[in-house]
Parts: sequence; structure tokens; C-alpha cells
Amino acid sequence: MTAPGGMRRRQLLTAGLAGLALVDAAPTAALAQACAATDSLRRLAAQKGLVYGTTIAAWQILHDPPFIRLVEQQAGLVVPENDMKWQDINRGRPGDDDYSRADAVAGFAVESGMALRGHNLLWYFRTPPWFFTLPDRKAKEGAVIAHITALAGRYRGIVHSWDVVNEPIEPRDGRPDGLRKAVFLEALGPGYLDLAYRLAHETDPAAKLVVNEYNVELDAPEHETRRVVLLELLQRMRQSGTPVDAVGIQAHLHAVGGPPFAADRFRRFLADIAALGLTIEITELDVSDEEAPADIARRDRLVADTYRRFLDVALDEPAVKVVVTWGLSDRHSWIVRHETDRSRWRKDGLPSRPLPFDAELRPKPAFAAIAEAFAHAPARTPG
Ligand code: G3I
Repeated sequence: MTAPGGMRRRQLLTAGLAGLALVDAAPTAALAQACAATDSLRRLAAQKGLVYGTTIAAWQILHDPPFIRLVEQQAGLVVPENDMKWQDINRGRPGDDDYSRADAVAGFAVESGMALRGHNLLWYFRTPPWFFTLPDRKAKEGAVIAHITALAGRYRGIVHSWDVVNEPIEPRDGRPDGLRKAVFLEALGPGYLDLAYRLAHETDPAAKLVVNEYNVELDAPEHETRRVVLLELLQRMRQSGTPVDAVGIQAHLHAVGGPPFAADRFRRFLADIAALGLTIEITELDVSDEEAPADIARRDRLVADTYRRFLDVALDEPAVKVVVTWGLSDRHSWIVRHETDRSRWRKDGLPSRPLPFDAELRPKPAFAAIAEAFAHAPARTPG
């Protein structure tokens, strides 16, 4: 599989945000008109020193050109949703890796002049089954080193930022340090974090190294504990000289249900991260609508409001440099594909509508909400 050549960026109309006032309660035609009359999310973000991006997959590059054209129009950065995960690359035996899909995404980013996020070098949840059967610590450490060296090395110089360890904390596991009791910690001890970040830095010194986490934005005791534990981990990493550059905040949000968004606490949390000298990337933003009403206009309004409330706070913090939505169109979303927990599926069986564009690639109120948030965001130094 090779990355497609010859795709030209579409010329974007740059008539400013005038059309967006139409968008709030507007039907699709007006939304499309408003979208056509305004900048792309990429350009609106760039005007404020931000980078806007989305997930893609290699098969979409090959088989869904209209979607890919939308990505080229709207995004300044892409991240493979699944194609760089260890278990997805590996064919079932140590070192037997197939990089063709990861190569296709990386090639697309380079050819399209987009930044590339690397997701991810280590994630307990997508670790090849054979890793668990390796005989001892030495063998497991060797496999981790070989994997990080090969994957980060293959894309050296072209990755904007790597999620080096994805989801390293889990306070509910009961450790005093709040680290997740999962495969790498159990195999190598808490020092696996330092090993992974140092190795990633040696292998690709230009890439920003990210700790990527979820559930740190709501006004719930569990989220507050996770904020505290994550900050403590970052402080330890900074003190010990572990090379970490940024925090990835996944931000898989819900339009309705659950604890409220903790605007003030979240604002303080972002400031605390910035005070450690780290930048911040919103890495997996989407809004599920499983408890929102069936009516599409109302549902889309609730989803858009959730994007707006979150981004208004997040973008107030100048250390936030990147915003990635976990997909661009409802055509390709893990929520719509029901790759979420069953409790998060809509009970009425209607397809979810979590992203800025609908399944027909038409802009939704969520698009306007994100565009407005970018337009109103304070300018920052790009990072
Ligand atoms: O590709 C196979 C297909 O061949 C097969 O027929 C089908 C049957 O289930 O499965 C397909 O694979 C699925 C894959 O996504 C591609 O769609 C897997 O079952 C499914 O488990 C996998 O889910 C992904 C999940 O991570 C686990 O890797 C989601 O797409 C992806 O959105 C999700 O992303 C994660 C981030 O990496 C980390 N943060 C949380 C986020 C959401 O869980």
C-alpha cells in the first residue's frame, strides 16, 4: 500500500466568519453555505498559533477519497486512529511487523504538507499477545526497546509529537503513585516510563514526547483524583529528567449525562501543567450523544454546545497548542462503529453524531462551534 500522490489541496474561500451566525439552529443547506463561506478549521486554528487535526486510517486514504479531500481541506495534522498501534502493526510474532498502513498514513501526511502525530509507542491495551508470554523481564525489556526503536526510528524527523505511553495512570488500581497496574509496569516496574521516554527521545530527538490521558476534565471525584495523580507523575518526570514535552488530554466528552464539565478546575489543571514548562495537546476530542434526544437538530445543538464549552476553557490556556478531533466526519467514528462500551450506545439504535461533519460530509453545528472557538481563542506562540 502506498500513499496516494497527486491530491491537490482545495482552494479555500476566506470570507471570514460572517456566515457562522447562520449556523446555530440552521438546517443543513445553510450550514453548508456557512461552511463554504468561512475558513477551514486548519486555517482558523493556524491564525491563533494552533494546529487542528483529525484521525485517519490507511484504508480511508485508499477507499474514501471524498473524506480524504475533506481532511485535506480542514486539517493541518493527522494521526492514525489505529494504524501505528503495536498490536495493529504486529503480525503475531516478535519483530514480525507490517508497517504498510502506518507508512500510508505517514506518507499521506508528508505529501499533503500536514503534521503527523504518532499514536502510540506503548499502550497496555494494544500490546501483542505474545509479549505477555515472554519468559522474563530481560526479554520483555528487549522487546519494548526493539519496538520503540523500530517504530519511532522509522518515522524519525516527520512526527510532530508521539504519544509515548498512552494512559499510564489508573488511581483505582490502588498504587500510591497512581500508576496503572498493567503489562509494562508489571513487567518492568515504574521505571518503564523513563525507559520509554528516554529511548523515544534518543530515537527521534525532534518529536515532542507526550503523556496521553483521559477523564481529567469533569467535576467528578474520580476525575479530580486523576488530575492530581497525573500532575504528580509529570512533576516526578520533570524532577528526574525524563524527557517529556507535553500532556495529551483525550477529552472524549458526553453531550448529556454524567457529571458536569469542571470549567474552573480544568482551567487550573491546564495552568498547573503549563507551570511545569509543558505544552498541552487536546488529542482525541469528540462528543458522544448516547443520552441526547433523538431529534437531530436538538442533538446536534447539544453536541455543539459541549464542544464550545470545553474549547472556550481549553483555548484560554496559551500552553494548548494542538486540537485533534477523534475523527472529522460521523462517517468514521469509533462511537458510531460501536467500538465503545455497550453502555455508551444509543438505546434507540439511531446512529450517533459525535463529530464536526455528518456522515454525508456536511458541516454540523459542531463545526461552527469549533470554528468559533478557534476564532475567539487568544493568539499563542505555535508549539
Ligand atoms: O479492523 C477490524 C476488522 O477487520 C474487524 O472486522 C472488526 C470486528 O470487530 O474489528 C476491526 O478492528 C477494530 C478497530 O478498532 C478498527 O476499527 C477493533 O475491533 C476495535 O477494538 C478497534 O477500536 C479502536 C480502539 O481504540 C482500540 O484500539 C478504536 O477504533 C479507536 O478509536 C480507539 O481509540 C482509542 C485511542 O487509541 C486511545 N484513547 C481512547 C480511544 C478510544 O478507545
